[in-house]
Formats: sequence, C-alpha cells, structure tokens
Amino acid sequence: MRITIENLSYTYDRRGRGRFDETIEVNALQGVSCTIESGDFVGIMGQTGCGKTTLIQLIAGLLTPTAGRICLDGQDINDRSYDRNVLRQAIGVVFQYPEQQLFAATVENDVAFGLKYSGLSANAIDERVKWALETMGFDFSKVRKQSPLALSGGEKRRVAIAGVLAVQPKIIIFDEPIAGLDPYGRQDFLELVAKLNDNGTTIIMISHNMNALAKYTKHLLVLEDGRLIMAGETRAVFLSLNNDLQVRGIRRAITEPQHVAALIAKHRKCQCQDSFRDDVVTYDDLISALKGYLLGVGGGGSA
Ligand SMILES: Nc1ncnc2c1ncn2[C@@H]1O[C@H](COP(=O)(O)OP(=O)(O)O)[C@@H](O)[C@H]1O
Ligand SMILES: [Mg+2]
Repeated sequence: MRITIENLSYTYDRRGRGRFDETIEVNALQGVSCTIESGDFVGIMGQTGCGKTTLIQLIAGLLTPTAGRICLDGQDINDRSYDRNVLRQAIGVVFQYPEQQLFAATVENDVAFGLKYSGLSANAIDERVKWALETMGFDFSKVRKQSPLALSGGEKRRVAIAGVLAVQPKIIIFDEPIAGLDPYGRQDFLELVAKLNDNGTTIIMISHNMNALAKYTKHLLVLEDGRLIMAGETRAVFLSLNNDLQVRGIRRAITEPQHVAALIAKHRKCQCQDSFRDDVVTYDDLISALKGYLLGVGGGGSA
C-alpha cells in the first residue's frame, strides 16, 4: 500500500498554558509532502520536538490534519466516506515504550486483543498469537498464561510488539523502538524488523540511532522544526552530509560523534582526506574503507 502525504500541517492548541491563560498554538508540522511506497523501510530522524511523533500519529489516523492530506492507495484517510477499518487493518503502530500499554491478565490475551474484531475463528486467533509470540522470540507454551507484569522490561516490550504483529498489518510504524535496549537487544530487534521488511511489510521507524538508520533503512525523512528538510535514499542523505556540512538541520540531526558518516566528515578535514574513500555510511563501509586505506598506504600510497 502506498502512503501519499500532501502539504501536511498540524497545529496543537495548548489551552491555558500561556502566561495569561491564553491559548498557545504549536505548529508541530508545516507543509510536509512525501510518498512512501509499498515494501519500503523508511527512517524518520530529527531532533526532539521536530514533529516525528506527530507525523506518525497523522499517518495512523490518530490525529486529523490541520491542513493537507494523507492518502492510502489514493484514498484520503480523513475523507468522511473513508472506511476506517481499512486503515486499522493496514497500519500497526508501536508507540514509544509500548510496554507501558500492556494491561491484560495473561500474555496471550494481551497479544490477542487486536484480533478481537478481526472475524477470525478462535483457533485462527490462537495460531496468530502463537506465531507472533514465537516471532518475537518467546516459547509460546511457557509464556502464554503468564502475567505481562511478571516479565522483564525487554520482554514486556516484545509482548507489546507481538500484539501489533498478530494483526499482520501491511505497514508497521515504530516510534523509537530501540531506545533503552542494550546493544544485543537492539541488534536482535533490528534484524527482526529487517526480516519483516524482507517479507513485504512496509516499515516506518523513528530513531535517534544514526548507525541503525544507516544500516537498515532504504529511505530517510529528515525533519527540522516541523518541516521536511530532506528526503531521499538513505545513502544519498548520509553522503550529502559528507559533501555538504552546511546543510542546516541535518547537520545537527546527524553529527553525533558516534555516527560513522560524522567521523568520516571530521577525518576528511585533516590532511589525509584525499586518500580516503568518500562513500562511507555504515560500519561495514568503514571497515572496508580502512582496509583499502591501510593497504594503499602500505603499498606505496596509491589508494
Ligand atoms: N499533545 C500536545 N499538545 C501540545 N503540543 C504538543 C503535543 N504533542 C507534541 N506537542 C508539541 O509539538 C511539537 C512536535 O512534537 P512531537 O511530534 O512529539 O516531536 P518529536 O516526536 O519529534 O519529539 C513539539 O513542539 C511538542 O512540544
Ligand atoms: Mg517523539
């Protein structure tokens, strides 16, 4: 399913938050346009407060645009005649810290919740719940009757994600899903998401982890102060950082010291810049570039 976003804006009213109890308007998004194709893996990045969560809430139909349109396969999801069930089936959202949303008495009931009105038989629902929990790395028979509250933080998060997977949406949106996970947890999770994407699920993922975005996403949307300042193929977006450090916003968004592209950009400022490859975006790129560089230096300098 294709998502088309046209000139999208969203304004929050903060009633009574002003100094004299007046309403303050926050323009969270302004004039955002882009298209997300079926099967894509799209990363959304930008500083805290730039509008990332607002954007995904609009895409999921949880907020109504102040201006502009969001279409799913050409149908405006905010049109009066639009069948909202189509949207609910098509898009699954994993919010930030989803573990806080668990509420059922048992893990299996929690995961089955989204299937309540699916029209599936009880057996089919059991199968789905089993599949979703196993996909998230659980032993189904061991965990099904447990209380979600008895699980660790990481396990709770995996149960919450299983609840979204169980519905088998064509599009899954993750809001900072790896925040707070340890490096192994992060890696496992990202590999799983990549597998879902390989199997045809469209993935939209908000993350502050630049190396994860560089490695796993196909396209990137970069927001700054509610505006889309850059959109494109992931490598191209990261490489434009190397070539043009002046790009406003993306610079602040990307130049975390631990990001590979930022390291290379710094490195290129020193004398040896000509002999180093300029297409380094991921850790794998860095390793192969370093090998080439060291071989070049050892072999007489013709890198
Ligand atoms: N419920 C809300 N009421 C008022 N303002 C909000 C609300 N949610 C977000 N905002 C404001 O909208 C802007 C964008 O927020 P958000 O979409 O959450 O950004 P991000 O996810 O990129 O951190 C911020 O200025 C934020 O303070
Ligand atoms: Mg957010």
